[in-house]
Amino acid sequence: MEDRSSFTAETVALQRAFESARPAQERLFCDPYAVAFLRPGLRVLAAAARTRLLRRAAVGLYDAVAGPGPRPSAVARTRFIDEQIAAAVEPGGQCVLLGAGFDARPHRLSGLAGCRVFEVDHPATQAVKRAVLGRLGVPGGHVRYVPVDFEVDDLASALREAGFDSAVPAVFVWEGVTNYLTRAAVAATLDTVHYLAAAGSRLVLTYVDRRALVEPSPFPEARRWVRGVARAGEPWTFGLLPEEATEFFAEHGFWVRVDTSTYDAGRVWFDGRRERGSRLYRIAVADVVGAPAAR
Ligand SMILES: C[S@@+](CC[C@H](N)C(=O)[O-])C[C@H]1O[C@@H](n2cnc3c(N)ncnc32)[C@H](O)[C@@H]1O
Repeated sequence: MEDRSSFTAETVALQRAFESARPAQERLFCDPYAVAFLRPGLRVLAAAARTRLLRRAAVGLYDAVAGPGPRPSAVARTRFIDEQIAAAVEPGGQCVLLGAGFDARPHRLSGLAGCRVFEVDHPATQAVKRAVLGRLGVPGGHVRYVPVDFEVDDLASALREAGFDSAVPAVFVWEGVTNYLTRAAVAATLDTVHYLAAAGSRLVLTYVDRRALVEPSPFPEARRWVRGVARAGEPWTFGLLPEEATEFFAEHGFWVRVDTSTYDAGRVWFDGRRERGSRLYRIAVADVVGAPAAR
């Protein structure tokens, strides 16, 4: 990853801003901070989506460029993970957002207010996030920022230095990140999470179906999506076959409770809407198993 703020993180913020602009009774979540992370051109698009007359045009313009997969998939995964966090965090507990990007959950999910939250991200993206939240005056006494490059840095030391407590169960969220890493970095990060996590900890993560990375792909939405992120300078480099995922995670000490696609996860929420999530974009929920050897 280059030394600049992540464009795909900004893209997810736009996708969340679009969803947040829907009427309160229809939207799957509300992220009032998302728009603040957008460059002026994208902010105009998000503002247009807030007016009833222009919403369809603004969102339609975005989907016409990005293709049908990315936005509904991001919306479904956001809602799914919101629910997983709400179910798993406890007051006084810990939550670690790995590759947090412009995710504003520490400020919008009430369940995280009483937790210690660690935001781990590439330093360039994290610096922009902190500057924006600082300008907005968003209180964040419960958030610790941990700048880490998963490809090169020592995540365990960084989290410990930031105050992560290996005796307290934690919820780890790794959303929209593994697909940008090398297999070695994914494996090393999983091993570190397993090493750091107390019994009772949980990991919620996303991965892409490896068949999205080949051409021709069996997923019709893959080509435009994969080419789009590559053009943005953040190519997808890692994926798993769903049928091998359970074993892969087990090798790193995780027992998979749920492994679904954003298409299947989103079915119930998108009932009555024309859009759907994507079969290539997957979300897994796993428990930490086995006691780490030494701490
Ligand atoms: C698509 S964004 C997802 C952000 C956030 N999790 C969300 O869902 O809104 C990808 C994130 O991965 C982070 N990332 C990519 N490669 C990384 C690396 N080598 N080390 C640390 N973070 C990385 C980027 O900085 C960015 O925040």
